[in-house]
Amino acid sequence: MTDATSATKHVPSSLARQTLLDRDLTRPVTDRPPIRLLPWLNVVKIGGRSIMDRGRAAILPLVDELRRALPEHRMLILTGAGIRARHVYSVGLDLGLPTGALSGLAAKEAGQNGHLLGALLANEGVSYIDHPTIANQLAIHLAASRAVVGSAFPPYHHHEFPPAVGRIPPHRADTGAFLIADELGARTLTLVEDVDGLYSADPNNPGSATAEFIPEASASELTSFTTLPFDRMLLEVMAAAKHLERIQIINGLVPSNLVRALRGEHVGTIIHSA
Ligand SMILES: Nc1ncnc2c1ncn2[C@@H]1O[C@H](COP(=O)(O)OP(=O)(O)O)[C@@H](O)[C@H]1O
Ligand SMILES: [Mg+2]
Repeated sequence: MTDATSATKHVPSSLARQTLLDRDLTRPVTDRPPIRLLPWLNVVKIGGRSIMDRGRAAILPLVDELRRALPEHRMLILTGAGIRARHVYSVGLDLGLPTGALSGLAAKEAGQNGHLLGALLANEGVSYIDHPTIANQLAIHLAASRAVVGSAFPPYHHHEFPPAVGRIPPHRADTGAFLIADELGARTLTLVEDVDGLYSADPNNPGSATAEFIPEASASELTSFTTLPFDRMLLEVMAAAKHLERIQIINGLVPSNLVRALRGEHVGTIIHSA
C-alpha cells in the first residue's frame, strides 16, 4: 500500500475508531457547544387553529403587527395547521393511514397558511419559502428581506416517529418551530395563540371556570398537564435545547402583544427550557 492510499483510507478523526454509542468516548467531541448560526433571528410561530382559521378579523391586525416589527426585527415567520388538518386527520385515521402519511397531509395545511400570510406580506418583500429552501438558503433570503414565511411543521413525513399511543403525528407545528429556532441559535421563539398564555387547565373548556393563568413555568413542570396550548412533544425537545433558554406564548388577538414580546417584554407565558 502506498502512503497516498493509506492516507485516504484512514482519515484522522476523533470519532473514527469507536462506536457512536459510547457516551464517555464521544463526550469530549460532542459536548462542545454548537455555534449560533443566526443569533439575531426571531422565530414567530402563528397558530393555525387559533389565528389563521379565524380569517381576516384575526389575520389582518396580526399582519399589521408583523409589518410594524419588520424595521426592528428579522424574522422567520412559521405557520401551523388548523381545522383542515384536523379534518384530514379524521378522514385519514378512519381509512387506517399510518402516522407518517398523516404527517405529510397535515403539513400541507401549515404550508397553505404560510402561503396566505406570505401573500399578505408580499408588498413588504416577504415571501413564502419551502422547507428545502429554508434548509439550504435561509440566510440568503434573509439577506434580501427582513423576514420570510415558512411552514412550522417539521418535514418528517414518512420518517415521522410513530407515537406509543394512537397515530396522530407527535411532531407538529410548535415542535417544528422550536427545533428550527434552537438549531439556528435564534434570539427568540414566540408562539402566537388566541389565549393570554398557559393556564392550569383549558380556559375555553366550560368545565375549567377556575383555570388559573401561569405567567412563567419551566418545561419540566408541565409534563403532568393533561391539556396544553401546544404540542406535548415540545416539552421533550425543550429539555434537550442547545440554545433557546425560553419561549413565550402570547395572545395574538391583543394589539401590540407581538411587537412587545419581540422587544423582550413579558406579555404572555414564558416557558423556560430547563
Ligand atoms: N393549559 C392550557 N392553557 C391555555 N390554553 C389551553 C390549555 N389547554 C388547552 N388550551 C387551548 O388551546 C387552544 C389553542 O389551540 P391549539 O390547538 O394550540 O391552536 P393552534 O393550532 O393555533 O396552535 C386555546 O384556545 C385553548 O383553548
Ligand atoms: Mg397551539
